[in-house]
Amino acid sequence: MGANPLSAVLDARDVSRSFGDKQVLSGVDLQVGAGRISALLGPNGAGKTTFLRILTGLLLAEGGHVSVAGIDVGRDPMAARRHIGFFPSADRTFYNRISGLENLAFFGRMYGIRRQEALARAGKRLVDVGLSDAVDQRVGLYSHGMQKRLSMARALLMDPPVLVIDEATDGLDPEGARRVQDLTRSIAADGTAVVWTTQRLDEIRGFAASNGVVEGPARVVKSVEEISRLQPGDILVCQVTNPTWAPIFQKIAGAVSDIGGSMSHAAIVAREYGLPAVVGTGSATTRIKDGQRIRVDGGRGVVTIL
Ligand SMILES: Nc1ncnc2c1ncn2[C@@H]1O[C@H](COP(=O)(O)OP(=O)(O)O)[C@@H](O)[C@H]1O
Ligand SMILES: [Mg+2]
Repeated sequence: MGANPLSAVLDARDVSRSFGDKQVLSGVDLQVGAGRISALLGPNGAGKTTFLRILTGLLLAEGGHVSVAGIDVGRDPMAARRHIGFFPSADRTFYNRISGLENLAFFGRMYGIRRQEALARAGKRLVDVGLSDAVDQRVGLYSHGMQKRLSMARALLMDPPVLVIDEATDGLDPEGARRVQDLTRSIAADGTAVVWTTQRLDEIRGFAASNGVVEGPARVVKSVEEISRLQPGDILVCQVTNPTWAPIFQKIAGAVSDIGGSMSHAAIVAREYGLPAVVGTGSATTRIKDGQRIRVDGGRGVVTIL
């Protein structure tokens, strides 16, 4: 809330890492501001998990710098880790014989908070992730999707300003994946900087903002000066719009934004002009390339890269 989306809470510069003679990362930069979602895309073996382990201080970079909330992760990983929640792809750290609540309270104690506070935080986070019915159930009985949400609850336990998520939707059915994605977007909307990895290149979700479906070339606009490039039939892809942008809505075919909800400027203007729009995607301008053909489904809140 009230977070400045332009200041980077997570700042990684020129990160490199190899294993033996295999160079896995070289010169990787990533800056993520409060309230933003940054998606790292790549097939298996691309180095996504390695990069996230470096961001979270679990693995040292060989070159480059990472800071989280102004703390140098390489120099003080323990301090940095208090500001970063990590949702690992394969989470085998829960105790199957105790409840979800007891598991989270245990991790809270490891972060150094008192049991009463740990239990209170754990209970709240379990509700946030939709596990209120399973608070007292043994984790061994949780489904795969429930375990994923428990991992999310643990990553959020200490209200970190940065959340790092490794393939959260892996192995989930479409409904389970949608729940995790919706949850992630609402966490970002509260001001958390989110890094997300995925192997799925094609689909970007946002808020259903203005009904209708349209296909066309994406025009990725990063500054006001660039809006003169928009041609009739183009689909505007931008971080955020404001009232000075209103005239372009007369010629474009649809709109997609990174920031904003269903009552944002882009959503309201798109409805006024009858253009399909998806807003608050978190990552459209980083994932969609200028000129790429996309489909915007404003009723479902889904943008597909064709
Ligand atoms: N601890 C390690 N020791 C040796 N090689 C590793 C280690 N961790 C990752 N790798 C290698 O680094 C490459 C990138 O792995 P990873 O970061 O897990 O990719 P991704 O998460 O994108 O699938 C792979 O070739 C993997 O085998
Ligand atoms: Mg991985």
